[in-house]
Amino acid sequence: MFLIQTILSTLSLVSLAFGRPTLEQRDLVCNGRAELCDRSYGNVTFLTSHDSFAYSTNPLELARTQSLDLTAQMNLGVRALQAQSHMKDGVLHFCHTSCLLFDGGSVLSYLQTVKRFMDSHPNDVFTFIFTNPERLSPKNIWDPVFQQSGLASMAYVPPRRPLKASEWPTLRQLIQTGKRLVVFMDYGTNTADVSYILPEFDHIWEPPFSSTDPSFPCRVDRMNGPLSSQDHMFMINHNLNARVFPSLRARSPLPAPTAAPGWFDDLASAIHNAGGMINSGIQQAGSMIQSGASSVGGAIHSAISSAINQGQDAANSVLVPDYLSTPTTNSMRSILADSNGCAPFSGGNATNFVMLDFVEVGEGMRAVDRLNGFL
Ligand SMILES: *[C@@H]1O[C@H](CO)[C@@H](O)[C@H](O)[C@H]1NC(C)=O
Ligand SMILES: *[C@@H]1O[C@H](CO)[C@@H](O)[C@H](O)[C@H]1NC(C)=O
Repeated sequence: MFLIQTILSTLSLVSLAFGRPTLEQRDLVCNGRAELCDRSYGNVTFLTSHDSFAYSTNPLELARTQSLDLTAQMNLGVRALQAQSHMKDGVLHFCHTSCLLFDGGSVLSYLQTVKRFMDSHPNDVFTFIFTNPERLSPKNIWDPVFQQSGLASMAYVPPRRPLKASEWPTLRQLIQTGKRLVVFMDYGTNTADVSYILPEFDHIWEPPFSSTDPSFPCRVDRMNGPLSSQDHMFMINHNLNARVFPSLRARSPLPAPTAAPGWFDDLASAIHNAGGMINSGIQQAGSMIQSGASSVGGAIHSAISSAINQGQDAANSVLVPDYLSTPTTNSMRSILADSNGCAPFSGGNATNFVMLDFVEVGEGMRAVDRLNGFL
């Protein structure tokens, strides 16, 4: 460590002696691209992982949204992380809809993983887009875990709020001031108490989420004033969902989970039961394969589709990530079409956040490079 510091400081002395910018300034590469260093944060597109904590390699884990773990997602190029929080037994967790459906562990351990990754990637800017449906206190609940993880001091605090998309510092400025984490939260922020947890919709607008339409029709769904949509950044919720119906419940041999309040109960048991249906769907797929179906994927796809399509009540439908459509959803064509479809609301600018399920499937990173003007 000491040796490296000595070499580095000798190098910068040498470059000063020759009247050149220091190595660091001259050769800075920001988020993997030198060209991004002098671009405003608000003019950059980031690969974004939807419910980044909800990873599992088990396809029967219906509420999963990712198959790669957090570090592997970031190794792939994800620099914006979306996650949904819930309180579980007095500890802040990331869970998908309910901790009964998918418990991604404590927020503290998640933040510690990101901190380790950020420490080993000192020239990269990261973004959190956290949802706080229970409106847990920034001061009493969120700030302590940010402090404990060591990330609070790396979080950017804008000089005033809201900042227009064009008013954000450059990536170079964020990196060189050591404030290279930008934290947004949908609900329950209080910047008087915790200045670095920024109200998402004052700065970013979103089209509707949980789309079941593969054409991802765009409109401004969630946004707060006073800035116009053109002066906001925006995020495409580019994850496709399949409907699973509560009416499947009656057919299921599995017991419903207990101790979940209200509609969580319905949702949890529906998905739980859908798991049973899909289980039998996969057995069915097994016999279809034996009887000569052309591909394992196709057989499982049609078996699951038939399991999922047996319900009728669309109004009460339950949505799960449509894993089997991911190669199409995460294609360059589909991502660019979604960004372009939203561009009229942003003065023609590209999306800032391309939020995907199963980030390793398809062409997410290439599409982000294209939107940043590199391909
Ligand atoms: C597009 O983004 C750039 C950079 O943030 C900004 O200067 C410009 O105003 C935006 N264009 C429109 C029409 O909003
Ligand atoms: C950044 O600015 C360029 C040039 O105005 C624009 O084409 C691009 O869409 C902008 N990207 C974002 C994410 O605002």
